[in-house]
Amino acid sequence: MTARIERLVTSGQFSLDGGTWDVDNNVWIVGDDHEVIVIDAAHDARAIAEAVGERRLTAIVCTHAHNDHIDAAPELADLTGATIWLHPDDLPLWKQTHPDREPDAHLQDGQVIEAAGADLRVLHTPGHAPGAVCLYDPGLATVFTGDTLFAGGPGATGRSYSHFPTIIDSIRARLLELPPETKVLTGHGDSTTIGAEAPHLEEWIARGH
Ligand SMILES: [Fe+2]
Repeated sequence: MTARIERLVTSGQFSLDGGTWDVDNNVWIVGDDHEVIVIDAAHDARAIAEAVGERRLTAIVCTHAHNDHIDAAPELADLTGATIWLHPDDLPLWKQTHPDREPDAHLQDGQVIEAAGADLRVLHTPGHAPGAVCLYDPGLATVFTGDTLFAGGPGATGRSYSHFPTIIDSIRARLLELPPETKVLTGHGDSTTIGAEAPHLEEWIARGH
C-alpha cells in the first residue's frame, strides 16, 4: 500500500509581537493504514489523535515554530509517543510557546523523513521564520510548504523573525525549481501547484509581500 495524504483543519489563535488573530490551520497526515506522520500539530491534540486513530504516529514534523503550528505538539507527543522534529533555527520561537519542553529532534536540510513508503525531503526555506522548512516527496508529487508559500504568494514577513528578501530567495531557489505539476499543500487555506504560482514571482517582488 502506498502512502496517502489526509487533511484536518483545526482552529485557534496565532500570537506574535503582542497581537493575536483567529486562524484555521491545515494539519497534514501522511501514511497508510498502519503508520503515519503529522505535519504541524495545530491547536487540538485530541482531534489530531482521533484522526490518527489506531495507527502508529512516528513523527510530528513542525514546518516552523509559530505558535499556531506547534501549540498542540507536546500534548500530541505525550498521547502517542511520537518524536517532535523542528529546525533548530526556530528554537527561539518555539521557546515563546513551550518554554519548558524542547523538541525531541532537529531537522536539517536534505534529511528524509520516512513514513509508510513516503519519503519527505526536508528543504530549509527561511524567510517566514528562520527555521521554516518545506517537505517534498517526489513520489507523491507534493510539497508541504507550511507558511512559506500559499495559493497567491509568499507567507507573511511583516513581523519579528521574518525577512521578505530571504523568503523570496527560498521560494525561488528551493520551491520554484520543483516540477510544475507538484502539488503545494499549505499551512493555511487552499492548495495550489508550483506551476500555478511560479509565473507570479516578479509580481510578488514588485509588491513587496
Ligand atoms: Fe507562520
